[in-house]
Amino acid sequence: MDKIRIRGGRPLKGDIPISGAKNAALPLMAAALLTDQPLTLTRLPDLADIATMGTLLAGHGVEIERVRSEGGQGRVTLTAKQITDTRAPYDVVRKMRASVLVLGPLLARTGTAEVSLPGGCAIGTRPVDLHITGLEALGAKIELKDGYMHARAPNGLVGAHIVFSKVSVGATENLLMAASLARGETVLANAAREPEVADLATCLVAMGAEIDGIGTSTLTIRGRDRLNGTQHAIVPDRIETGTYAMAAAATGGSVHLLGADAQALTAVIDALGPAGVTFTATNRGLKVERANGLHGIDVMTEPYPGFPTDLQAQVMALMTVAEGASLITETIFENRFMHVPELLRMGASITVHGASALVRGVDHLTGAQVMATDLRASVSLVLAGLAASGETTLNRVYHLDRGYEALEQKLAACGADIERVRE
Ligand code: UD1
Repeated sequence: MDKIRIRGGRPLKGDIPISGAKNAALPLMAAALLTDQPLTLTRLPDLADIATMGTLLAGHGVEIERVRSEGGQGRVTLTAKQITDTRAPYDVVRKMRASVLVLGPLLARTGTAEVSLPGGCAIGTRPVDLHITGLEALGAKIELKDGYMHARAPNGLVGAHIVFSKVSVGATENLLMAASLARGETVLANAAREPEVADLATCLVAMGAEIDGIGTSTLTIRGRDRLNGTQHAIVPDRIETGTYAMAAAATGGSVHLLGADAQALTAVIDALGPAGVTFTATNRGLKVERANGLHGIDVMTEPYPGFPTDLQAQVMALMTVAEGASLITETIFENRFMHVPELLRMGASITVHGASALVRGVDHLTGAQVMATDLRASVSLVLAGLAASGETTLNRVYHLDRGYEALEQKLAACGADIERVRE
């Protein structure tokens, strides 16, 4: 298994191109199942999760033509002329939870779908009850058997008024796609407002669906009998943007994040200002700099437009070297502090009380051998390694490859001493 070796202590300086958002790309790829015409997505990042979604869709009979190019500028054309198989097998779903996003489109297009339950996940139990009850409200019959969701809607789905009991990105996306091919009007209340949800809705509109309230917590969808193909550019990755912003801040550097969308990162920019990090929106993206001291701040994760849970591990790594204390509270996922023991091994001072972590800033971290069990936790250890003195070796690099395109290249181009060690 590959490792990443970092010799820390160098301020990051330079330009970093921001890739298309993984979490927008995955539901957009699943949306190809809704039409027999080609759907072309541009700014497609080159990531393991994108390849996994490709494998899953190919299994359903989708033809895939992919052009890879550097810097998140890839493109894919997906054509689901015919759905040849409606089963999403355990082997793929267990690797990537976002596989569950094929449930709504398969069911809406063909009237049937069998999707494996995702099962355990490193960052908590992550149930799919909201996906199931939402689709049932549209008239589907869903049975749980042999570890699979067996969904049927032989007479098609029918619009309904759905109030989510909890904000869920994935459930909102599954229901948006299903409702686009349902008869009549669907209202999704307490819907997720994440920019990736809005990106999907925008693409569905280009495919012929009628959707009001994009970007708000109430989405009204008037379904169509058929949807058409289109071409759509995936939004820039706000989590990648926030990650590199924090890497610059952790090393006392200055980076220009090309193509970044500052607006999608408002909560992060507002939080990090008082910590001593300066953000300047430019016509090419977002400049981030930390010239002076770094100060402790309190952060609580929330659904968008709040501070994203996908940047919680990174902000914690940043706070380990800030002056003073910082309280970091995770409200979205239980068990999302697996980076804490690894950060402790690098000399951080962190105490976890339930869903909160009290971080007392230390003068410096020291390099160590570390490993992590999920994507964002892994990248937080890269940030810690960049800020630490000495050498850090990160094991289980495959987590990073799921969500960060060309991570070592992007950081090395800004002066980081980082390399992948292939084994
Ligand atoms: C998506 C993102 C993930 C991010 C998360 C929260 C993708 C591919 N992944 O994941 O990176 O961390 O949003 O911003 O976009 N829940 C239920 N029942 C359900 C569904 C969810 O209780 O049926 C709970 C979850 O356990 C969690 C919370 O709702 O506590 C939010 O989860 P959700 O927004 O659904 O996350 P994902 O869509 O899986």
